[in-house]
Amino acid sequence: MDEVLVAGADVLEIGRAIRVVAAPPAKRVQRLYELLYHQSNLMGDETSYVNMGYWPRESMTIDEASQALADLVADAGEFGPGDRILDVGFGYGDQDFRWLETCKPEKIVGVNVTPGQVRAARERARAESTTRHLEFREGVATALPFPDETFDKVVALESAFHFSTRDQFFAQAFRVLRPGGLLVTADVIPFEVEEKDSADPEKTSGIVPKANWYTRDVYASGRRPRGTWSYSAPFSAAGCGTVTS
Ligand SMILES: C[S@@+](CC[C@H](N)C(=O)[O-])C[C@H]1O[C@@H](n2cnc3c(N)ncnc32)[C@H](O)[C@@H]1O
Repeated sequence: MDEVLVAGADVLEIGRAIRVVAAPPAKRVQRLYELLYHQSNLMGDETSYVNMGYWPRESMTIDEASQALADLVADAGEFGPGDRILDVGFGYGDQDFRWLETCKPEKIVGVNVTPGQVRAARERARAESTTRHLEFREGVATALPFPDETFDKVVALESAFHFSTRDQFFAQAFRVLRPGGLLVTADVIPFEVEEKDSADPEKTSGIVPKANWYTRDVYASGRRPRGTWSYSAPFSAAGCGTVTS
């Protein structure tokens, strides 16, 4: 009987995986994360982070490394009391609960394309009585539903590589940031791009749109000491001058 149930579960997982592969590109990322939502264990044993982590020590667990990446991003963004922060592509929101506790911002608003993750984060905020400071919304990174100059900080923690496109997200981020605000990303980028990669559907399957497949030189050209960025190709295309990270 157990074997029948296991086989049944496997068939369901395979069905869900096929739904990811067969989805139109605009729906593929959302279906991928809905698929993960159905699995009993995501990446960590103790947290629901969905990032690959920051590993200053080899002996760390994925839970610790994922949290360390969230802490690194908070440091880079100088998150602090009174901040209004927008977190785009928030997963299950673990980092938002962490930042609320460690940095005491006034408000963190999350936007995420995956409905199951939005529901889970809202439920946790209700259970932990943090809804006054944490608000989780369904939405897409390239059409942020906020007036100009609403936030002090915008963050994309291992999510901007999915956005279609990352440059359009940058444009939206700069629109909703107040003058002098900060955009912080921890992102997935290739070490090298070969000419053939951009035409290779395996490399640019819709999980990472072709337009986002560029190296750190393109991402960060013009970088100055202490993480100051100026007109790189994507930033200048987004209409931005100088951005500090
Ligand atoms: C790799 S996960 C990172 C999640 C979280 N930041 C973390 O570190 O645990 C990528 C997240 O981006 C979200 N996402 C992907 N495309 C998106 C889009 N176009 N707009 C908003 N969120 C998006 C996914 O639903 C998922 O939550």
